[in-house]
Amino acid sequence: MNALLDKNIKEIIKEYNGVEDVLTKWNIGCTGCSMGTCRLRDIIEIHNLNESDEYSLFSEMAEVIYPGVKVEIPKLQRKPKVLRKKISPPLAALIEEHVNIKRVIAKVQLLITADDKTLLESTAVIEQALDFIRNYADKFHHAKEEDILFKFFDANSDIIVAMEEEHVAGRKYVRSVADALKTGNTAAIRNGLKSYTDLLTEHIKKEDEILYPWMDRQLSDRDIGQLFSKFAEVDEKFSSQNVKYVSLFSEG
Ligand SMILES: [Fe+2]
Ligand SMILES: [Fe+2]
Repeated sequence: MNALLDKNIKEIIKEYNGVEDVLTKWNIGCTGCSMGTCRLRDIIEIHNLNESDEYSLFSEMAEVIYPGVKVEIPKLQRKPKVLRKKISPPLAALIEEHVNIKRVIAKVQLLITADDKTLLESTAVIEQALDFIRNYADKFHHAKEEDILFKFFDANSDIIVAMEEEHVAGRKYVRSVADALKTGNTAAIRNGLKSYTDLLTEHIKKEDEILYPWMDRQLSDRDIGQLFSKFAEVDEKFSSQNVKYVSLFSEG
């Protein structure tokens, strides 16, 4: 069982029938993750299982992987983590920015199911949404993640690489919608909007529920202070444009 700790979780799921059900029972949705490059030991750390839950999860996995065999249940070494009652202010601010992004995603999603005529009549709204996505979601919010927050972590770690790749994929979908708007290709507009909104919805959920809480547990108070002041500089730089973007999609 110890040998499995450094194995990729998706390979374990593929190799051993039933592991996926165990993980799902523990609310660990690795199969839905677009990358799934984490090792088994990363899963435990990222999902913040306590020692007794970790033991139960490993025991249930062992029963599936080695049925009827008594195996040693691994025990992970625990790094000291920072205990905070609430998520720290800089990360709470990023979650607040997600609320604004999700509002625009919801408006765009309504257009995906619209008929061709309505879709083409909504070109101006789609262009406005793309402008918001490029500037607020990407140049402002994703840049805060990539250029500031992620720099506190190992750039080569699977979870950081996965998040950055999703940002890149999002940009590709935005370009595909912009190109499709020029030619009035409604199927391509719909495809691009759907791909983008599906990707970002999952991406934000992962950040809000897993990535940010995990990061918050790793960051010291000093790190949080630095994050706070670096974010404040960016917020200041973007303040007038952000007032416009947030108000543009806040009503209705
Ligand atoms: Fe992100
Ligand atoms: Fe984000």
